[in-house]
Amino acid sequence: MILILLGAPGAGKGTQAQRLQDSRGLVQLSTGDMLRAAVAAGTDVGKKAKEVMERGELVSDDIMTGIISDRLDQPDCANGVILDGFPRTEAQAEALDNMLNDKKLSLNAVIEMKTDDAVLVERVTGRYTCANCGAGYHDSFLKPAKEGVCDKCGGQEFTRRSDDNAETVTSRLKAYHAQTAPLLPYYKGKGILKQVDGMAEINEVTRQIEAELQNI
Ligand code: AP5
Ligand code: MG
Ligand code: ZN
Repeated sequence: MILILLGAPGAGKGTQAQRLQDSRGLVQLSTGDMLRAAVAAGTDVGKKAKEVMERGELVSDDIMTGIISDRLDQPDCANGVILDGFPRTEAQAEALDNMLNDKKLSLNAVIEMKTDDAVLVERVTGRYTCANCGAGYHDSFLKPAKEGVCDKCGGQEFTRRSDDNAETVTSRLKAYHAQTAPLLPYYKGKGILKQVDGMAEINEVTRQIEAELQNI
């Protein structure tokens, strides 16, 4: 199964992708996570992406398309993937269609996580992640059972993203509305767009996504 989670910054793409990975054995392909790893490793892509990401703008379509095409060829993706953060422009969506055609794969569904912009700054600025296993948390909305200890791995170190400040989130939201939201009619036209209420509580969003996937 190839699934796209489409939504604004903080809509819950990463949170729900991690759950689908655990429940369905799909692999989460988060282009944001891949770019952050490239920045941390100081690769050529990382050097190009660092400042663009800090401004909350989009990295070039060529770089992103290349990263995803290479990743899809790796054996762990054979059971299916959740695209989290890709495609983000019409050019990326067209490139994805072409690459899936070439690889004899097809896109099963695009799930839009609908949110109001007003909640997103609080979601993003309250987010933190386990430094050991990558599990995501939130200061108010998703705390570990024991404060300071990761539920999944017991790790006690957490990180926050440098682009998770109110100013950069505002630019990321602008980029979403200008460049990514036009993908909604693109996928609606193909008859594969589903919608869930991204404003609902986290478990309820999971339930709605699972309900949409039942019919596929
Ligand atoms: P990326 O890492 O993809 O960031 P983003 O799209 O801005 O999305 P986020 O990761 O911030 O949000 P999310 O939807 O995953 O939310 P989460 O589940 O964590 O991209 C970063 C940058 O990389 C981009 O700005 C760009 O520069 C570059 N980039 C990446 N892909 C690119 C591409 N294809 N092309 C070009 N450039 C690209 O949830 C947020 C918080 O809210 C968490 O703390 C969570 O616990 C909480 N939460 C989640 N759901 C709920 C809920 N229902 N109720 C309450 N709280 C919730
Ligand atoms: Mg994310
Ligand atoms: Zn952990």
